[in-house]
Amino acid sequence: MTTRPILVSGLKSTGRPHLGNYFGALKNWISHQDSYDCRFFIADLHALTVQDPIIPHLGSVGFEVVLDFLALGLDPQKATIYRQSDVPEVTELMWYFSPLITVPYMMRAHAYKDIEAKGGEVSVKTFMYPVLMSADILMHNAVLVPVGKDQSQHLEIARDIAQKFNHHHGETFAIPKSYIDPKTAIVPGVDGRKMSKSYKNTIPLFSDEETIKKQIMSIVTDSKGVQDVKDTETCTIIALLRLVGTPEVVADVENRYRTGGIGYKEAKDTLYQEVIRFLSPMWERRKKLAENPEVVHAMLKEHAERVRKDTKPLLEDVRRKIWA
Ligand code: ADP
Ligand code: TRP
Repeated sequence: MTTRPILVSGLKSTGRPHLGNYFGALKNWISHQDSYDCRFFIADLHALTVQDPIIPHLGSVGFEVVLDFLALGLDPQKATIYRQSDVPEVTELMWYFSPLITVPYMMRAHAYKDIEAKGGEVSVKTFMYPVLMSADILMHNAVLVPVGKDQSQHLEIARDIAQKFNHHHGETFAIPKSYIDPKTAIVPGVDGRKMSKSYKNTIPLFSDEETIKKQIMSIVTDSKGVQDVKDTETCTIIALLRLVGTPEVVADVENRYRTGGIGYKEAKDTLYQEVIRFLSPMWERRKKLAENPEVVHAMLKEHAERVRKDTKPLLEDVRRKIWA
C-alpha cells in the first residue's frame, strides 16, 4: 500500500509527442515519479474521431506513444502506465458526473467555443471532453495534475465537478490541482502559435532527421538580415533553443542576436544540431525498447489491471451514493 499523494496525467494519442508535450508536460511527469504515486495514461478515448483520416490505426499509434513514454524516462517500476480504454469504468464515472453540470456551463469550454467560432460542427464527444477528463482525474482521487497551460480550464471544470459531487452526495473526491511550469507553459510551434499536433507545427520527438530539419527550417521569423540586431524575446528559434541547447550555445547565439552578426539560417542550423543532440539518447533507448514489444504489452495489461483494482473502492462508493 502506498501513502504517497496521487498524481495523474494523460496525453492524447492523436499523434506522436513533440517538444511542446515534452517541456510542457512530460518532463514534469518524469520529475514527479519519485515523490508521487504517479498514474500516466494514453488518452485514446479522447483521441477518437471520425473526422480525421490521418489516424486510421489509433490502436497502434497508442502503442507507439507508450514506447515513446518509456524512452523519454517514464519508469514502469515507479509509475503506473496504462491505456485509457483498458479501464472502461472511466466512462461510467463520466456518466455519473453528467447530471451535475449544465449545457450553458459546458458551452464556456474553450475547445467547444473554438470550433463554434470557426463555424464548425461540434461533436458530442468534443462537448463532453472536459467531463471525461474530469473522470480521468477524479477516478484516482488525484491531488496533482501536471499539464500545459492550455489545460487549466479543464482542471477548473474537474474541480467544479468534484465539489458539486461532494456537495450533493457527501465527501467523496479530492480536489485536484494543476501543476503548470510557468517557464514552459506554452512552447511555441514553428509557425509561432502554440505547438500542437492539431496545428501541424510541431517538432516531433521521435522522427527522422529530415522531418525535424524541414520543420526547423520552416520556423517563421521576421526579415532581418545577418548584420541586423535581433530580438531574443520574440523569436521562436531562441525560445526553442533555450529549451534544448547547452548554456554555452544559448549564450553565444543570444549575444550575436544582440550585437548583430548571425542570420536566422545559421541560428536554425544551430537549433537543429542542439535538437538532435538532445533527442539522440532517447532515440537509442527507444530502439532497444522496440525490440521487445511483448514486454511492453504485458506491462500495459498488468498496469491497467492495477488501476481497475486500485480505483474499485472509490467507484463502488460512488455507485452506492448514486443509487442510495
Ligand atoms: P496537442 O495539443 O499536441 O494535441 P495534447 O493535447 O496531447 O497535445 O497535450 C498533452 C500535454 O502536453 C498536455 O498537458 C498539454 O497541456 C501539453 N502541451 C501540449 N502542447 C503544448 C505546448 N505547446 N506547450 C506546453 N504544453 C503543451
Ligand atoms: N486533455 C488533455 C490534453 O489534451 C489530455 C488529458 C485527458 C488529460 N485526460 C487527462 C491530461 C487527465 C491530464 C489529466 O492534453
